[in-house]
Amino acid sequence: MSEQLAVSGAGPVRKALWPTWPVVDEEDVRAVADVLRSGIWGSTEGNHVREFEQEFADLHGAKYGIAVNSGTTALLLSLMAAGVGPGDEVIVPPYTFVATATAAVLAGAVPVFADIEPDTYNLDPDAAERAITERTKAIIPVHFAGAIADMDRFNAMAKRHDLIIIEDAAHAHAARYTGRAPGNLGAAAACFSFQSSKNLTAGEGGIILTCDETMARACRSLMNTGRAKGGAWYEHHLPGGNFRLTEMQGALLRSQMRRIKEQTARRDANGRYLDERLRRIPGIRPMKPDPRQEIHPRHLYMLRFDTETFGIPRAEFVERLKAEGIPASQGYPIGLHHQPLYSGKGLKEQIPGMRLPHRQAHDYGAVACPVTERACATEAIWLNQNLLLAEKRDMEDIVCAMEKIAASVASESEPIK
Ligand SMILES: Cc1ncc(COP(=O)(O)O)c(C=O)c1O
Repeated sequence: MSEQLAVSGAGPVRKALWPTWPVVDEEDVRAVADVLRSGIWGSTEGNHVREFEQEFADLHGAKYGIAVNSGTTALLLSLMAAGVGPGDEVIVPPYTFVATATAAVLAGAVPVFADIEPDTYNLDPDAAERAITERTKAIIPVHFAGAIADMDRFNAMAKRHDLIIIEDAAHAHAARYTGRAPGNLGAAAACFSFQSSKNLTAGEGGIILTCDETMARACRSLMNTGRAKGGAWYEHHLPGGNFRLTEMQGALLRSQMRRIKEQTARRDANGRYLDERLRRIPGIRPMKPDPRQEIHPRHLYMLRFDTETFGIPRAEFVERLKAEGIPASQGYPIGLHHQPLYSGKGLKEQIPGMRLPHRQAHDYGAVACPVTERACATEAIWLNQNLLLAEKRDMEDIVCAMEKIAASVASESEPIK
């Protein structure tokens, strides 16, 4: 006889609260308050954003850091600075946040979706290579959940086909791969987000890291209304905008940087522990680790759920988990290529006369990404990064809840004697 489940009215496995996000202390408050009192709120006058750019670039071994107002902006400006524009194709995975592909649309280019790998959910290098045409200009591998995409293969592919690689590192702060970090892995640039859920946050924000001086100069100009280094205030060279961070955000990010190494190490250790423990439960498959990745920041802890082996649908499993005090979700409900912006189906928001040339240039209805479809429909389960900031012993509650649900499913399907 298995233990009674919380969905059936019994007590949950986890009664205590999980660590909350973001983490904030008096030093963070003082850092922002000091900027407020100084009256220097804009980054064109202050030093906090500039200092933060250097500190974040140093952490990743990148030569240059250009802070911007979001991860989406970081992707857009990197594409523009790399010369991506109208008519160019940009290969992206469909299992990612909308911004990865929207950045290409905003640059006037055409996102082309290539499927993900079944065991990492990152862009599949073989699928990406098959999607290359004479119009392909760039590939954006996403380090999804913090797992670094196969950069060795993407870099080699870029060389072979004369393409630009832009890393979407929105989930990969402080990751390490082959002894290096995003922004210094051979790509033209890496783009991070500091939106409120991210592993380093100021509520909103982003940064471009690069080792290429020309790229850095172009991104800095695009971020700051097209101005040039050494140029006059009213002298604008590129079609840039005001994409700057505020000094309040810069100060907060610098203050939050005090914790990033410890938080990342803790998440990674807890993630590795969960991998080890959960792989023993039939029907639960943790993502495949990449031995080249020394530090996995685990923006999400992801698993693959197999309904047939486990014996209940994923939605039911997630509901039971939540009842046991383990907040979990099913992740993206559909692949990005099925969004109305691409498929045209169910399109509600329309601006009369607005041109969306990507829809004419590419047949999104013909896109087939079966691995993404499966991840969205039945397989993926996400736990948020703040759970992994708890102690190792708290991870046992996650294991225990899943084991308890597995045992209850087994007993539900036992024949009554
Ligand atoms: C994978 C990925 N890329 C890009 C972004 C865009 O970042 P932002 O929301 O800061 O524009 C996000 C998150 O929001 C993301 O998860």
